Amino acid sequence: MPIKIQVCADAQEVARIAAGKLIEQVRDKPETVLGLATGSTPEQTYFEITRLAEGEDVSFRRVSSYNMDEYRGLAGSHPQSYRYYMQEKLFKHLDIKPENTHLLDGRAKDCAAECAAFEARIRAGGGIDLWLLGIGTNGHIAFNEPGSSFECRTRLVDLSKETIAANSDGRFFKDPAEVPRQALTVGIATIFDARKIVLLATGEKKAAAIAAAVEGPRTQDLPASRLQEHPDCLFLLDPAAASKLTRRA
Ligand code: GLP
Repeated sequence: MPIKIQVCADAQEVARIAAGKLIEQVRDKPETVLGLATGSTPEQTYFEITRLAEGEDVSFRRVSSYNMDEYRGLAGSHPQSYRYYMQEKLFKHLDIKPENTHLLDGRAKDCAAECAAFEARIRAGGGIDLWLLGIGTNGHIAFNEPGSSFECRTRLVDLSKETIAANSDGRFFKDPAEVPRQALTVGIATIFDARKIVLLATGEKKAAAIAAAVEGPRTQDLPASRLQEHPDCLFLLDPAAASKLTRRA
């Protein structure tokens, strides 16, 4: 099944449509298991989800969530930790139970055990129904940098220079020296196991990675190209992120 592409009018519409899909998923299956992303891209989507959930009275009481990644060494109370981000942008605005929101512990002493336990928890929870993804400018998904095996699962990884630079441009960290050098991340195989995947990308900076993921060869040098073989994967794009696609009308 090739990747489905939907080009939206703008980034606002990407967020509205993504939020609508997630709310529809929860309405259809109140015990939905979500996979969630962080970064700038899903921020507006999370805002729309909280707005829709309130307006349409959709409950997240039976929903559980798993996040893709966490910086190594950061406690959940650190403002740049992904736990803090999720808490502020989404969880505290919903009736989701805190014990059902799962993030890797960046301060775990035994990272291998933490990662194995996370995989086991996802499996025991029935697997991910819908995974909301972002994409790095180098085509990474979660923190699976180029070169990651398509078979990889949750583990400790080194971040690439490009990713450290991208995350210290002032949006998150102010200086590359502040960015942790390692992270715990789900693997490409962990993401691929999800029943549905919705990847969000906005802005010119993502255009090359999107074109390579959709139209380029399937290669471990471009982690998102793995999604070409997923049975139910949708890319929601704004016109800038879609601007380097050549095969669409
Ligand atoms: C980050 C995160 C990814 C995210 C990607 C894009 O480093 N680990 O999960 O999808 O890079 O982030 P942004 O949306 O800020 O461009």
